Amino acid sequence: MSAGPYVPVFSGPARTRLEQLFGKYPTKQACLLPALWMVQEARGWISDQAIAEVADVLELTPAYVKGVVTFYTMYHTHPVGRHFVQVCTTSPCNICGAEAVVQSLLEETGCGELGATSPDGRFTVIEVECLGACGFPTPILVDDDFLEDVTPEKVKGIVQRYD
Ligand code: FES
Repeated sequence: MSAGPYVPVFSGPARTRLEQLFGKYPTKQACLLPALWMVQEARGWISDQAIAEVADVLELTPAYVKGVVTFYTMYHTHPVGRHFVQVCTTSPCNICGAEAVVQSLLEETGCGELGATSPDGRFTVIEVECLGACGFPTPILVDDDFLEDVTPEKVKGIVQRYD
């Protein structure tokens, strides 16, 4: 959803930052992941127009860039809440109660369903595959904060920490 003509991300200081990155990678195309991060930092998510811009700047095809964007759950292909919550629901965590944590998060945040944004714009919750903390179920990521041993009882306190 766009409110007007697309405004490029990579102009001015952002363009300079990206060009500085070029020198740190073997090829311009290898800057794809950090370039996408820059887009997401600037806009909150990565639109098809932004994909086209990144493809143009890095001399890749939009299809290739879109393939990368949609492969990683860390990139958002639609607007999300201010806080992005990722919950591991892979089998080892699921056996230990991850689904109950998900339900509690959906209720406490007001999101109601996975992938939806809460009416106050604060949260979006999704399920993800193994977060690499299988010994500490249930692990969740809230933005860049990695939280282990999350139980339904702890969810309310966690949600209250984020404005
Ligand atoms: S299965 Fe949940 S962190 Fe590995």
